[in-house]
Amino acid sequence: TCLIVDFGSQVTQLIARRLREAGVYCEIHPFNLVDETLIRRLAPKAIILSGGPASVEDEGSPRAPQMVFELGVPVLGICYGQMVMVHQLGGRAEGGHHREFGRAFVKMAETSALMEGVAGRGEETEVWMSHGDRVTALPPGFHVQGASPNAPFAVLADPDRRFYGVMFHPEVVHTPKGTQILTNFIRRIAGFSGDWTMGAYREEAIKKIRAQVGDAKVICGLSGGVDSSVAAVLIHEAIGDQLTCVFVDTGMMRAGEADEVVSLFRDHYNIPLIHADDSELFLGELKGVTDPEQKRKTIGRLFIDVFDKHASEVGGAEFLAQGTLYPDVIESVSFSGGPSVTIKSHHNVGGLPERMKLKLVEPLRELFKDEVRALGRELGLPAAFVGRHPFPGPGLAIRCPGEITREKLDILRQADAIYLDEIRKAGLYDTIWQAFAVLLPVRTVGVMGDGRTYDHVCALRAVTSVDGMTADYYPFPHDFLGRTASRIINEVRGINRVVYDVTSKPPGTIEWE
Ligand code: XMP
Repeated sequence: TCLIVDFGSQVTQLIARRLREAGVYCEIHPFNLVDETLIRRLAPKAIILSGGPASVEDEGSPRAPQMVFELGVPVLGICYGQMVMVHQLGGRAEGGHHREFGRAFVKMAETSALMEGVAGRGEETEVWMSHGDRVTALPPGFHVQGASPNAPFAVLADPDRRFYGVMFHPEVVHTPKGTQILTNFIRRIAGFSGDWTMGAYREEAIKKIRAQVGDAKVICGLSGGVDSSVAAVLIHEAIGDQLTCVFVDTGMMRAGEADEVVSLFRDHYNIPLIHADDSELFLGELKGVTDPEQKRKTIGRLFIDVFDKHASEVGGAEFLAQGTLYPDVIESVSFSGGPSVTIKSHHNVGGLPERMKLKLVEPLRELFKDEVRALGRELGLPAAFVGRHPFPGPGLAIRCPGEITREKLDILRQADAIYLDEIRKAGLYDTIWQAFAVLLPVRTVGVMGDGRTYDHVCALRAVTSVDGMTADYYPFPHDFLGRTASRIINEVRGINRVVYDVTSKPPGTIEWE
């Protein structure tokens, strides 16, 4: 095991992700829960200290147990983790007067095992800096291996004890060779063989689910998306018929969604499934609601009501399982005093009301989308299902800005189906991360045949992305857009104009609300 001590950085999960990519098992534990007992139980072969929002000079700012440095295992300190290491080993770190954020170039003063294949002696490499503190005195045994113009202590090392510290973030994609740096640490320096796989993750996850749930009953809300499906199949593997799935038709699903999900779960997997039509309830409660956050919160609340109801139908389920992913978590909650703000209340995280009776089981909370797909393949889910574009819990509600009506949803569903059909025909479905139609609360004038029309505008969205955290719009050829627009306008009554969204994330988000 590699132990990652989390000091509250927004990107700690990315460290774990990179290690999983390097085929190494790791566990993240918040700094305040890392004590001698935990360390003895885990017996880590390497330790990584994450970044975090604090300054080592602040009173009561977080530290690592001193034992971390006495185990004889390699330690890598990243950003705040580097300051902690320096401070606890007898050096000095201070609140820097100038904070440094963004791109920088680190020049190596010597050859370093950490930077093997990244930058040799005298060479530079691009990194992503984000820090406030800086080192002012080195601990005994340490020396500087690399520096940037604003960070004279960018790479520190005590190679004899295998202690390394970097002031930048190797875990983010903006450090182009960051994966190599972390892989060097974990394989070259710490000696991990790198043969850990998604299969092993599956076994671990199953053990954890069994330990959490015991012999209680669990219900799992299926949304038609990949995440909830993978969560359901995983949990079913762990606890069998203690699990019942619930597919709630909110009236805001895509065309054909219900049939596909029901047949996959009932017929293919033989997992007990309740197919509930609660569309009256959802659409009724959403009447007159136009604010995006209020929509999300209303839907979140209704889901809980509905699940509470179905939980009692299956004879008292105690747990609700959800396919919450890491990006949902980080965008919905503020972390341990860190600077992260709520962008949207993803309904399966921040939108949940406090009064919920069911306890949550969220076995995918640490994973990113592409890892969930890998896990889905590992679990034998059909390729077409695993490759499906993400679909948000609140469904078409957040693709229909303004008030939602059955009529608008019907129009949107038809346009969306045509758009996806054209994407499949063009062979682009798997190249695109996510594509969907949005029905705008705007009407424009058109002319069809000899008549005037006054109908809705449909916006098309398609993005490429690796994990949903950042995204680029997809550059469709114009003839594709033209063909799709004319099909939508000709075949869908109620739409007379189509526009294409060319916004990336950031500054946009993928969904419109
Ligand atoms: P945004 O719009 O925040 O979306 O850029 C990022 C990814 O998350 C999906 N999404 C959701 N998924 N519940 C979900 O399960 C939600 O409330 C939710 N909102 C957005 C979105 O479709 C995209 O893939």
